[in-house]
Amino acid sequence: MLVLGIETSCDETGIALYEVSTGTLLAHTLHSQVALHAQYGGVVPELASRDHVCHIVALVEESLLQAKCTLSQVGAIAYTQGPGLVGSLLVGAGFAHGLAWALNKPLLPVHHLEGHLLSVFLAEKKTTFPFIALLVSGGHTQFFKVQALGQYELLGESLDDAAGEAFDKTAKLLGLPYPGGAQLARLAEQGNEEAYNFPRPMLHSANIDMSFSGLKTAVFTQIKQLITSNQSELTFQQRCDLAASFQKAVVSVLYKKSQQALERTGLNSLVVAGGVGSNTALRKRLATLSAEVYFPELQWCTDNGAMIALAGALHLDNQTDVQRIKVKPRWPLADIN
Ligand code: KG4
Ligand code: ZN
Repeated sequence: MLVLGIETSCDETGIALYEVSTGTLLAHTLHSQVALHAQYGGVVPELASRDHVCHIVALVEESLLQAKCTLSQVGAIAYTQGPGLVGSLLVGAGFAHGLAWALNKPLLPVHHLEGHLLSVFLAEKKTTFPFIALLVSGGHTQFFKVQALGQYELLGESLDDAAGEAFDKTAKLLGLPYPGGAQLARLAEQGNEEAYNFPRPMLHSANIDMSFSGLKTAVFTQIKQLITSNQSELTFQQRCDLAASFQKAVVSVLYKKSQQALERTGLNSLVVAGGVGSNTALRKRLATLSAEVYFPELQWCTDNGAMIALAGALHLDNQTDVQRIKVKPRWPLADIN
């Protein structure tokens, strides 16, 4: 059975073809809207939906070419049902419904975050259930106990900004274009992570919840202090040091909370997923935990169609027929059933 995966929850149009019988990803194509939104300093929802419309058909055609398949060979259509931007979700859902109707094939509605946390199964080194999942993306920072496919218990989460959001907002303070997470990480490589002692919010709290919004404010305050003394703008080295010190604070919190999640549940495997999961400093630090730690390949950390095709394939028993289009812009993963 060939599953077509469609991801359009935010600012990436991702398409993939996954062959279930052999467990092989036959094709994947991606169009990123980063350049489109950069000039506005963040994602503009209406522009995002329109851009998905412009690219989705061409990406499906390109994926079929890559896989040397035709549409008639597609056995089921997986698409991101939520959470995400409602207009963007509707483009993918509408396209999936139209195609399913035309081909007379079933639909597989997929939870975007489930796609992220199952993306580790696209890698060679496979993990097995149960495990702890750390989802660190632009919109979410959450720990789940994953007992089995579809069984996700929320253990703790950020009470305010997601880690990716904190990266992006701090990057903006350092003069980097949106989304600045990856670029901040590159600045950090040349910085001294001990230069500034930023707070590690909720590091010692007994629960597994986190808070990142104060960290961005601490960076802002530090920048103001540096600028008012006797200089008008930050030097390159100061920007690198601020980036490195900020990154160290985030990584320390995620490391400590991962340790707590593992200890509390008695589990010995941690799966790290989502865009911030591609951060090298985070990967290095988490790899030192006394547990099995699994990371998806870098290309599957950020939004993509492959994780949606795979999640759909793993849920082939949850097929639905074409019906009224329903998307879920707000959809906690713990409510998946
Ligand atoms: O999972 P994702 O692609 O989209 C969401 O579902 O949110 O994550 C995007 C987030 C952005 O905040 C981006 O800045 C951050 O992941 N990100 C990074 C890195 N690469 C992407 N943050 C820190 N270091 C990176 N290397
Ligand atoms: Zn995502």
